[in-house]
Amino acid sequence: MATAERTSDTIVGRDAELRAVGAFLDAIREGPSSLVFEGDPGIGKTRLWRAAIEAADERGYRVLTSRPAETESGLPFAGLGDLLDPILEEFGPLLPEPQRDSLEIALLRQGVEVSRQDQRILSVAVQGTLRALADSGPTVLAVDDLQWLDGPSARVLGFALRRLDHRPLALVTAVRAGDSAYAALDVESVFPEGKTHRLTLGSLSVDHLDALIRAKVGRGFSLPTLTRIHGASAGNPFFALEIARLLAEEKAAPRASAPLPVPPTLRDLELARMRSLPRDARDALIVVAAAWRPTERLVSAALGKDASKALAAAIEAALLESSEDTLRFTHPLLSSVVLSTTPPARLRRIHARLAELVDDREERVRHLSLSTEEPDARIASALEEAAARARARGAPDSAAELSELAVRLTPTDSAAAVRRRMIQAADYLFEAGDAGRAGGTLEDVLAASPPGPLKADALRRLGWIRYQEQSYSVAVDLFQEALMDTGEDLALRARIRRDLAWAGLMSGDLERASANARAALDVTEGLGDPAALAEATSVGLAEAMLGRGMRQDLMSRAASLEERARGLGIETQPSASFGLVLKWVDDLHAARSGLEELYRRTTERGDEGSLPLVLLHLSELECRAGNWDVAARYAEEGHAAALRTGQEPVRAGFRYTQALVDAHRGNVDRARALAEEGMALAHRTGASLFVIHNLSVLGFIELSLENPAGAHRYLGPLAELVLSGRLREPVLARFLPDEIEALALIGDIERAHALLRHLTERGKALDRVWALATAARCRGLLAGTEGDLLGAIAALEDALAQHERVPYPFARGRTLLVLGEVQRRAKQKRAARESLGRALEIFEGLGATLWAERTRGELGRVGGRATGPGGLTPTERRVAELVAEGRTTREVAETLFLSPRTVDSNLSRIYHKLGVRSRTELAVKIAAERAAQPG
Ligand SMILES: Nc1ncnc2c1ncn2[C@@H]1O[C@H](COP(=O)(O)OP(=O)(O)OP(=O)(O)O)[C@@H](O)[C@H]1O
Ligand SMILES: [Mg+2]
Repeated sequence: MATAERTSDTIVGRDAELRAVGAFLDAIREGPSSLVFEGDPGIGKTRLWRAAIEAADERGYRVLTSRPAETESGLPFAGLGDLLDPILEEFGPLLPEPQRDSLEIALLRQGVEVSRQDQRILSVAVQGTLRALADSGPTVLAVDDLQWLDGPSARVLGFALRRLDHRPLALVTAVRAGDSAYAALDVESVFPEGKTHRLTLGSLSVDHLDALIRAKVGRGFSLPTLTRIHGASAGNPFFALEIARLLAEEKAAPRASAPLPVPPTLRDLELARMRSLPRDARDALIVVAAAWRPTERLVSAALGKDASKALAAAIEAALLESSEDTLRFTHPLLSSVVLSTTPPARLRRIHARLAELVDDREERVRHLSLSTEEPDARIASALEEAAARARARGAPDSAAELSELAVRLTPTDSAAAVRRRMIQAADYLFEAGDAGRAGGTLEDVLAASPPGPLKADALRRLGWIRYQEQSYSVAVDLFQEALMDTGEDLALRARIRRDLAWAGLMSGDLERASANARAALDVTEGLGDPAALAEATSVGLAEAMLGRGMRQDLMSRAASLEERARGLGIETQPSASFGLVLKWVDDLHAARSGLEELYRRTTERGDEGSLPLVLLHLSELECRAGNWDVAARYAEEGHAAALRTGQEPVRAGFRYTQALVDAHRGNVDRARALAEEGMALAHRTGASLFVIHNLSVLGFIELSLENPAGAHRYLGPLAELVLSGRLREPVLARFLPDEIEALALIGDIERAHALLRHLTERGKALDRVWALATAARCRGLLAGTEGDLLGAIAALEDALAQHERVPYPFARGRTLLVLGEVQRRAKQKRAARESLGRALEIFEGLGATLWAERTRGELGRVGGRATGPGGLTPTERRVAELVAEGRTTREVAETLFLSPRTVDSNLSRIYHKLGVRSRTELAVKIAAERAAQPG
């Protein structure tokens, strides 16, 4: 096309800028970077942007371009389509199928299935595509007028550009000065620090304007005229060219004394230029400005007559250009002038006409919405539908915009429709990551809603927002309130029961959770909706785990429904529940492969919101399995994802698994800090289970430091929950063996036995290997404390046999350690050395520093040198020392945070072990031992 050549032929007065462009392009292999041309409208950004594209071409780089127009900013993925359409054939096949599908659906290469819900997968698909592109060679994404890039494109591109690692890909873009803050893509934040180069363009000199005008208008002006053009345009090439064109039409050169016939504003300037066009051409310009993809055919149809002559005149006047059938203004400023000077009513009529003519559904709906200011039921429902489609394409942001428009155009007498559309808007907003506005919209709905199912629905949605962002217990309250308003809507009731079940589980109100899960399951069975059934089933499963054993029947049924439950949130998907359940029943191998599969699927879908939950289970699993590096990595990744997606309560869970790993490794300070933070977070967000877990770690840390009294202070209250029957699932009470050990060491044997009975009973009832193994260890420990060494050894050997059934190396190491201690006291030196040697090997292999150290100490004692004084436990030792110093029972109790009764029972064991009968004899004995010890 002639005009295109004419604009690309010359470039004047930008030598320094062109050199900067060259240097930028030469450095492209160093990794992701961006070049931003900035400046006033018409200053020459696009001209340089084109020059940059040519320079990239010359270097053999691949260049993908998009030139969004002001009107396009409402069409989702218009920009992404410009960029990727040309390479989709080549690079699409490299993507995993679900990603390829999502990309094709977003770009309308494939039909849109409205039930589709995954939206982040598209970002992952674009990331994969850009990476593959850059891997194939240096690549430039060239986007003009960044301020008009549509939001959905900006979002997915931003996601992808942030994750290029060191690949050679550059963004070259232009943005109007002052508009860059409005651009949906925040370039600075997307590229690494220091990798965004801004070039601000200033005005051109008189000489350069002269060259420019000669080249573009095809004639020169005298120096005085040129100087006046330069003054009037302030050196802005666009203004200067427009003035020159106007003057050129005047034929005779303006007299030096006469004022330059230049209208004061751009708008007037353009109007003057357009006024010289035939009327038909002016009408055609309005249609071109209003349409998304104007063609000669469309303009003719809209005007109801052949527009070819009119359009040719506009092209001749350098107002329009045409390429591949599509018309566009030679400059976006022209179209804004046309739109802003056309009477609104006339513009609305043109939009109405265009709505009848265009094929594309999205365009049609947008024309419709621009064709009226009055509420219109038909248009509102078309917008509602378009919103659903936009979301299905992966553009919840556009969907939200469209449904807000639908709300505005819904006739006020259809209050229910208004509220329904507001709820939809809230949903889209939440999905688009704007939880604040989503919550606000729902609160507006609630304020305006009479009691009834619609209100219930709004309440439960608000509940899920609060669940994610704020607090499980707040969510429970909202769900509870919602339940009151369901009326006869059974499906909704079931859904809310399910919500309650899940939130109840997480907030630790297990009884209520289970009652709700069962109720949900009953109702859903009756309704026969497979996806809902799968969801209810999985919650039912979790419920069944609340100390009532596993429901094999439910598990296999849920598994068969997994395929149809794909659209559900991860936490309620059957396979997530499986992973959890399998972990509970100690089938680590199956649990791991299930969770890893889920992890893979979640990442592939780009479902960042679901990542934390999967990773939480995985990190806990790997910690128990002794893969502490892996566990730490999962925990860190999960915590980061929880932060990114604003999931506060779950963060408490990650603080727990992180603390757990550190505690096992003996990084005491860090573990403590993490667990304390986790506990505070869990309290704040009503996540009772995470309170329990974090407290458990704090107790475990103290036990590892051989401070049983300290451990008991954390674990005692938790044990209370167990004894009162509120925590019946042994897996949720992993602290039990630690508390039993702490109690044994501080001498509260009675309570230790009570807890042991519980652990044994639950372990047997549910056939939990972990519970049985640790219970046997505790039995051995207690027997040993009570002096029944042979009974102790038998129990510990039983424990080891149980350990054979599950790979929990650390737990096994601890059992071996206890066994070694008892064997030593039973004078079975060789056996003791062997047990302790195996324990040490495990602890050292794992990197459990504190436990390894303790084991080495024990080994030293077996070695025949100073055996511990009568085999006293650390607590007994401390009690003995304090008593020997002459402290009273009460003083000892206070010093060691023990009860006086406990001190007394310690004392009687000490007497027994040391063969003394009074405090005085004890003092003498301890003094003698001290004297015997070197140092
Ligand atoms: N240095 C130059 N050499 C030759 N022509 C130029 C130069 N700078 C600008 N032009 C011409 O001036 C006109 C306006 O420039 P351009 O379209 O690049 O402005 P812009 O900064 O992109 O404006 P906007 O912000 O409105 O997009 C165009 O016709 C362009 O070809
Ligand atoms: Mg431009």
